[in-house]
Amino acid sequence: MSTPDTHAVRDRFVHIADLHFWSVVWNPFALASKRFLGNLNVVLRRGRHFRMERAEPFADYVASLGIPALLMTGDFTSTSTDAEFRRAREFVDGLVRRGFDVALMPGNHDVYTFREAREGRFEQYFGPYLPPEGFPALRKLPGGTSLVMVPTVCANRISSAGRISAEEAAATEALLRDASDPVIVAAHYPVLHETDAYASGVNRRLRNADALHRVVGECGKRVLYAAGHVHRFSYTRDPQFPNVSHLSSGAFFYHQPRHNCFGEFSEIDVAPGGFRVHRHIYRDDMWERQPVEEQ
Ligand SMILES: [Fe+2]
Ligand SMILES: [Fe+2]
Repeated sequence: MSTPDTHAVRDRFVHIADLHFWSVVWNPFALASKRFLGNLNVVLRRGRHFRMERAEPFADYVASLGIPALLMTGDFTSTSTDAEFRRAREFVDGLVRRGFDVALMPGNHDVYTFREAREGRFEQYFGPYLPPEGFPALRKLPGGTSLVMVPTVCANRISSAGRISAEEAAATEALLRDASDPVIVAAHYPVLHETDAYASGVNRRLRNADALHRVVGECGKRVLYAAGHVHRFSYTRDPQFPNVSHLSSGAFFYHQPRHNCFGEFSEIDVAPGGFRVHRHIYRDDMWERQPVEEQ
């Protein structure tokens, strides 16, 4: 069931997560308390770990696969500054110019402080790419597969926790009733706090994850739940709901010499019986395409 017949593939799409375009803020007046911490993190870590100069060659490689449908699950920026949003928007526009049909949503770093969330900074920069009805939203991939996009982010004073309200979970349930089988559910946060590949601390988890987990698990359809946020690749069958597979794609530009991984994204085939996933990893100055089995 996990590996469908390749001849029956009805849809194919690319999943890119956690780009984290970054910029260093030098204006001390722009360093509100949380931004100060985030900025420190940019200075100390992002420059080393997120190599922005790879943006254009990476985009060229993804485009060379000839798969026009592209899902991006948020964390386009590091601290929601205008400079980061401008760079992220330019990057997405460049993907569209290369022929991609892009579906995207914000991550928690795109609503970094209450101010950005209140002012709708993400919406200002990505408005034309967002569903006019807001999230959750139902879209269709070219072959007819439904893509249900679920809102899971919020601003926080210090933590990186997400949230989904009971109303949003109920609205997601209603969209899943109208969705195709199989169906893709996409969100910034995973609903599993732990798999073989990652373990999320309490301050980094999705609050009310159980409600969304239940809605997805009990929809009666074969589901691929695609998320980012944890910066780790993981593809695993749900321990409670065997109809659900969970994919988290690693951060697109993440430079990790220790893991011999210098960037990554996922490619997903959708067939009547289920899904097939390939992980693309950048190493030794070239891309590798690896088939992945569920854990
Ligand atoms: Fe992230
Ligand atoms: Fe995140």
